[in-house]
Order: sequence, then structure tokens, then C-alpha cells
Amino acid sequence: MSRDSSLWWHTATAPSNIAFIKYWGKRSAETQWPANDSLSMTLSEACTTTLARCLPSNEIDRFQLGDLNLASDHPKARRALAHVARLRTITGFTPPLAIVSENSFPEGRGIASSASGFAALTIACLAAWTVSPDLDHLARHGYSLTRLADLARLGSGSACRSLFGGFARWESGDAHDHQHFRQLFRADHWALADIILCGPSEKKISSTDGHVAAWSSPSFAPRLRSLPDRLRACEAAIAARRMADLGNILESEALEMHGVMESSVPPVVYLSDTTRRLLETIREYRARGGFPAWFTLDAGETIHLICESRHAPQIVTAARAFTPERMILMDRVGDGPTLELRKGPAA
Ligand code: DP6
Repeated sequence: MSRDSSLWWHTATAPSNIAFIKYWGKRSAETQWPANDSLSMTLSEACTTTLARCLPSNEIDRFQLGDLNLASDHPKARRALAHVARLRTITGFTPPLAIVSENSFPEGRGIASSASGFAALTIACLAAWTVSPDLDHLARHGYSLTRLADLARLGSGSACRSLFGGFARWESGDAHDHQHFRQLFRADHWALADIILCGPSEKKISSTDGHVAAWSSPSFAPRLRSLPDRLRACEAAIAARRMADLGNILESEALEMHGVMESSVPPVVYLSDTTRRLLETIREYRARGGFPAWFTLDAGETIHLICESRHAPQIVTAARAFTPERMILMDRVGDGPTLELRKGPAA
């Protein structure tokens, strides 16, 4: 295959992930050092696809999101281009890049587009600079999934877990540059589904601002002390595929994180009364039987219902009945990112 850089793009697809044990609070925002270890399930359908190719050295970086060619001062373009600049400083690569990025899911509905977005952006940039057609090639240039995770987290912390398929763990380590990233179990370990009840509107407070506020909550220090036990229990429940054990951990963890948010000074409140009532309804349905699903929440009103895939159809039917107004997306555990050379726009 002859490669023509004006037609062929380094194309990275990275999934979003849903945290079972949440990353909330940073020991340092500057070095993106999280306050605690976190654990997540990598998704399959909710993905960002990012195309990158090198431009002649007299040009400047270009960033296109979906069909929109964003001005470089647009907040989304600014954050993405700042990450590209950061990658350049760390790696020493200089060529300017054309970047085109697209999400497979609706934006502004509380599905972590920053996790999939910064994972895909990191892979695509490094692939373009090292002229890597696939992930193995990129690893041979020194950019293994672990190295890419360490770089992706600098754009958005949760992005580092999206580098691994299945179930992933991000360990904060004993220093900001001793963080660890690893796959705990592959996707085929346990067929879990995530039925996403999309929130009605975009969150008003960014996660990045919320992380800062966490330290002002009196519940935060006790949370950090008790989290290692919950993390161990979560890992054990996944290892043994014990759904009810995992489910109870998910709900305690999500509610505890929102407790920290709401007891921060000033309070960081993401949940409306409608969402709180929905959480009650989910518990009532489960108590009545025939609804083996447990909720988790991120920073927003979107509710993720985690269940075994074989139960997903019945959970979706019930959810459509009790919340007809919410858009429902069906997702499941996935295999992680991909990289290929693909023909793309001649932009
Ligand atoms: C509630 O990764 O979005 O989703 O590092 O500032 O970009 P930044 O924050 P972000 O925080 C995610 C918070 C969370 C929990 C989680 O995914 O672990």
C-alpha cells in the first residue's frame, strides 16, 4: 500500500469507561495525581474516533469536532490543542497536526466524552508522529498502552483507564510520577452491560472543578481511608462474578461520591429531585424481583444501570416504562482502543 499523507489518517478509536470505584479529588491538579485508586469497566459502543495526520512544518494545528471546524479559542478545541502541545513538550515531536474527532454518542448528555476523547487523541497524535499504523507498531516506538495511559491522564484523568479493555485499575502510587495503570480482567471475563439512562442536560459544574472542591468536604478524608477495602471487595466481586455483591458496592460508592460532592464547600450538586426519585424507583423495582440491575453515577444526572448482559433486554424494557422521557443507550464491556490507517477527508 502506498501511503499518501494527504489521504491516509492515523485513526484511533477509544471507548469511554464507567467507573465502579470513582476517581474524585486530586492530590495535585498540575501533575494530575489522583487522591485515590479507581477501577472501571471499559465500554464498547460509546467511543471517540480521532483521525490525525502531520502537516507541513509551516502550518499550525487544526482541530475539527464532528462536522465543526472549531476556532482554536473554542473551549473544546483549546483543551484538546493544549493536550497536543503538552504531548509535544513531553515527547519532543514537533510536526503540526490536522485532527478530526467524532463521538459515537450524543454529547452533553453526561457520558464521559473526555475519557474516550483524550484516550483517542493521545493515541492518534503519537501514531501520526511515529508513523504507526497499529498499536503494536506504536508500542515498538516506546508507546505501550501503559505509556499512552500515563500521557492520556494528563488530558483527563479518567482517560487513562480507557486504554485497557475489560476492567481497568488506575493506582495513584506514592508519588505523582509513580502512578500505575493496568488491566485487571479482560472483557471476556464477565459479560456485563451498562444501560445508560441519559441525563436531560449538560452538567453545570465540570468534573475538573468538582475535584478541587472535594477536599473541603468533611466526608472526604474518611472516604479516602475506607476506599482501599471497597476497592478490594469490588475486585473480588468481579473476580468471582458475584453480581449482587458488585451491585451493592456500586450503589454505595456512587452515593458516597455524591455525598462528598454535596458536602463540599460550597456544595457541588449534580442530582435533581427527578434523578433522586429515579434511583428510588430502581431500588423498588429490584426489591420486587425480576430487575437484577444496580446503578452507578458519574458527575451528572446520567444513571448507569449495570447488569449481566443476559438480563439487559428485561432491564431496558422496565427502564422504558419507568422513565419514558430519558434517552436510553445500551452498552457493554468492551475490548479497548484500536488504531489503524484509514482513508479520510482531504482536509
Ligand atoms: C466522576 O476524568 O473528567 O467520572 O481529570 O479533571 O478531566 P479531569 O476529571 P475527569 O473526572 C472523572 C470523574 C468521575 C469518576 C471517574 O470516572 O472515575
